[in-house]
Order: sequence, then C-alpha cells, then structure tokens
Amino acid sequence: MPPNDTSAAPSTLPDFETLCASFAPRVVDWQRQHGRHRLPWQQTRDPYRVWLSEIMLQQTQVSTVLGYYERFLQRFPDVVALADAPLDEVLAAWSGLGYYSRARNLHRCAQVVRDQWAGHFPPRAADLAELPGIGRSTAAAIAAFCFGERAAILDGNVKRVLTRVLGYGQDLASSRHERELWTLAEQLLPAGGLGIESYTQGLMDLGATICLARSPSCLLCPAQGVCRGRAEGRPEAYPVKTRKLKRSRRENWWLWLEHEDSVWLTQRPETGVWAGLFCLPEFASLAALEDVAAPLGGTATAQATIEHALTHFDWVLHPVRLPVDSAPAWRGGQWVPYERLGEVGLPAPLRKLLARR
Ligand code: ADE
Repeated sequence: MPPNDTSAAPSTLPDFETLCASFAPRVVDWQRQHGRHRLPWQQTRDPYRVWLSEIMLQQTQVSTVLGYYERFLQRFPDVVALADAPLDEVLAAWSGLGYYSRARNLHRCAQVVRDQWAGHFPPRAADLAELPGIGRSTAAAIAAFCFGERAAILDGNVKRVLTRVLGYGQDLASSRHERELWTLAEQLLPAGGLGIESYTQGLMDLGATICLARSPSCLLCPAQGVCRGRAEGRPEAYPVKTRKLKRSRRENWWLWLEHEDSVWLTQRPETGVWAGLFCLPEFASLAALEDVAAPLGGTATAQATIEHALTHFDWVLHPVRLPVDSAPAWRGGQWVPYERLGEVGLPAPLRKLLARR
C-alpha cells in the first residue's frame, strides 16, 4: 500500500478523553525517533535565537530560512545589538525574506525587550504574546522550547493536524470556532507538560512532513490509529474554512533611472506593501512615467514584466530602464551605487531585477 493511502480506517476510535491521553505521547515518541533535530534553532534554548527563527519561519520555508538565520545572527548576535541597530540595517539583512512588517516588528520587539525587560525575554507565553509581532502561537512555541511551559501552539499547519485528528469540521472562518479549537489544542497537550518541547516540535514536524494539505502520508503518522479524519477516509476535508480571499490585480510602472554606476531609489511609505524599503519610482500609468522621464533625455527601454503575488493581489510591474547623462537633482530619493545595493533594504523582485542589469 502506498504511504499516502487513506482508505484503511481503524475499526474503533477512542473517545475524546482517551484521545487526549494517547495523542501527546504518540507525538512525543514519534518526534524523538523521526522528527527533525538538527535545525540550527533546535540547538539552543536562547529565547533570542528561538524567537528569531519562529518569526523567520512564519511565512517562509525552512530551506530559505537556513540561508538567512546564521547571517542575521552574525550581524545581530543578541537582542540588544538588534535593538540598537538602525532599522534600515535590519531591513537590509531581512531583504529577500519578504513580509517586511515582520522585520519592523522584530526591531520594535527587540527595543521593548531591551527597554522594558532589561534585555531578557519574559519567560511566560502570556507576556511574550504582548510583544510586537509575537502572536499567541509563536509566544507558546518560544515558551515551550525555551522555558518548558505547557502552552498550546496553533499555526496554520498545526490547525490542519489537529482538525484532522479531532474530526473538527466547524468553519474556522468564525472566531468562535477558532477559539474552540484553541481550547481543544490545550486539552491535547501532554499531561503535566511532559516532553512539551518534543510535542511542540512534533506537531510542527507532522504538519510540515506527514500531515500535508493534499496527500497526507497517513501510514507514517503516529496518530493514524486515533485520527478521525483518517477514520472517515477523508483527512483532506479538514480544516474547513469557507471565507475565500478576494484577490485583485494591480499594475504599476517603475522608472529604472541610471546614471553612471548608480540607480535612483526612493524609500516607500511607512505603510502598505514593502513599507520602508527602497524602490524604483512607481507610477500608475506609462503616461505618468513618461511625463517625468521625457525632460531627462536618454533612450528608455521597456524591461520584462514582473509578476508578483501578494496576499491580497497580483501585482504586475513594468520596469522602464532609462540611462541618463546628467543626474537630476530630485528630492525624496538618492543615487545608490550598484555595488552598495547590499547595504539597503530592497524588495526581492527589485533586487533580482537590478542584479540582472
Ligand atoms: N516552523 C515554525 N517553527 C518551526 C520550527 N521550530 N522548526 C521547524 N519548522 C518550524
């Protein structure tokens, strides 16, 4: 039978109390034998390192984070070094990871820890959850990994694992059901908090490697004997979330203005997409771009269109490259030499575009 076969259901399922007693030990044992153990943030109980990894991992895959994590730590070795650094440097180190509000919150959080907690992260999940950028699940993960607190995590992957195991078919678009799932997640925690670190990591590992959205590998899962989703023969039906995101499309034109070995960059507003990052001047139409570019002379060439998917819309960007002989003395931006682009925070698609010049 293939590992993702979900047809063979267990003949009897435990009641909820028995499930609560048996689920956590299964996850803990499985994690110790089969889970991930060598990720760099698993080699420490330093809350700064664990916090950094959890924030990086929120919207980014492990394989991508691996390339950033150590470099970030070399540049900002502790929470005070991060708090003391200029925001632009933090954004530059984050550049390419995307979702830049994470980097701004990271910086603000470091400053709160420096100023209000004497440079030490608070050990309790409830206090961690009050810090900028740390939600309830991330707070619980840090408290469990670093301080052994018996606290429940419930990120997107874990919601999938738990709704399947529980056969929880209520619509998670409703906050009442989401709250109910949090309560159930707490009831499933290991009794007495025994092995909470392995349990927490185990849920993450199951969500990332076994209990996948499309074809879960139920035969490899430690919960296969107690999982309602599997017993029903349709684990993929969970979680239920009806509200669909309405995606829109946006189109803009970018003026890629070059003078000698420099490019003209402006800083984006403090709110909105890529807040605070450096970018090419952006226009709502080609005509608007041409109004600004025409007096500069030179020959403009249209570049390949960039298509970038963001959470709420698909963004179509049309860069227009224009080398000029004399640099305009505009306000609200700066000439940045290509060789110094590594020092400024750039959105990943722009960094890629400029690297191809
Ligand atoms: N995703 C979120 N936290 C993680 C962790 N600690 N290890 C692996 N993947 C994760």
